[in-house]
Amino acid sequence: MEKEVMEAFVRGLPKAELHLHIEGTLEPEMMIDIGRRNDVPLPYPDAAAARKAYAFDNLQSFLDIYYRATSVLRREQDFYDLTAAYLEKAASQNVRHAEIFFDPQTHTARGITFDTIIRGITAALSDGERRLGISTRLIMCILRDLSLHNGLETMEQALDYRDVIAGIGLDSAELGNPPAKFAELYDRAHRAGFLTVAHAGEEGHADYIRQALDSLHVRRIDHGVRCLEDDELVAELVRRDIPLTVCPLSNVRLRVFASMREHPLKRMLDRGLRVTVNSDDPAYFGGYVNGNYLAAAEALGLGRGDIVTLARNSFVAAFLSPAERRHYLDEVDAFAVLHHG
Ligand code: ADE
Ligand code: ZN
Repeated sequence: MEKEVMEAFVRGLPKAELHLHIEGTLEPEMMIDIGRRNDVPLPYPDAAAARKAYAFDNLQSFLDIYYRATSVLRREQDFYDLTAAYLEKAASQNVRHAEIFFDPQTHTARGITFDTIIRGITAALSDGERRLGISTRLIMCILRDLSLHNGLETMEQALDYRDVIAGIGLDSAELGNPPAKFAELYDRAHRAGFLTVAHAGEEGHADYIRQALDSLHVRRIDHGVRCLEDDELVAELVRRDIPLTVCPLSNVRLRVFASMREHPLKRMLDRGLRVTVNSDDPAYFGGYVNGNYLAAAEALGLGRGDIVTLARNSFVAAFLSPAERRHYLDEVDAFAVLHHG
């Protein structure tokens, strides 16, 4: 397909985004502005210098920069502005539904209250739903490089916000922090009625994905790209129809794969895995969700059929009611019929 035709196709396609860290949408311009108004010093004189510094060797080298940037967020208004800007951007890319991660521990460790974070984010989500017609869910991620005890304390705080937090996830430095470390926390989460997901198989090997299934009993795997190392695991993911929220630009920028041409997205689709495409931390990795679809499509030769499958998968994998899911899938199918090429 011609480049312009593909761009228009991806732009118009209704889609869900299921793997998006709200702190990872903090664009350098907003980081500098909020840093100034809150008197938080940053190691960059301007936005251009920040962008230049965003060159990563691995996940940890990214996380160091990301947590530092996140420290500008102090007030309810900051969390509101961050979330509102993401929703505007997402809606402009025809994201119809977004499931948004946030990392409370990185804020509460700096003395920001749980309530400040939640109020800012949820106010922007309600306004976004009303103004932009985009539906959302909020997923609280536990930082896996902190202790189980710290995670459990954070879970206790989340219980007071059961009405606005739909799910629990697990992120941050993967290697050395296997899913099984958090079995007790996920047990608690399930008993409290939360849906659950976990980052696994990004830098960690395939066994981390198996642990996320067997010890944490998650509904979806975030990343999961290293499942291809284990044929039995792939068969199980297919049989149980476990969705994988893949983030192609993130994987290349964090050097999980040397280039987009080596990314396994197409092979994963061809194996029958329930793959979705997402942006992870778009302010750092060079593209929002459509940028991820396009970069993968170009490098891997995806066709219209693959792209529609990815968009359909995003709604099949989303935490939606059957009626909402049907509604969005009908939107995708109507778009595909109109633009079948
Ligand atoms: N936190 C933000 N982005 C992340 C990623 N890609 N992996 C793990 N933790 C993260
Ligand atoms: Zn992530």
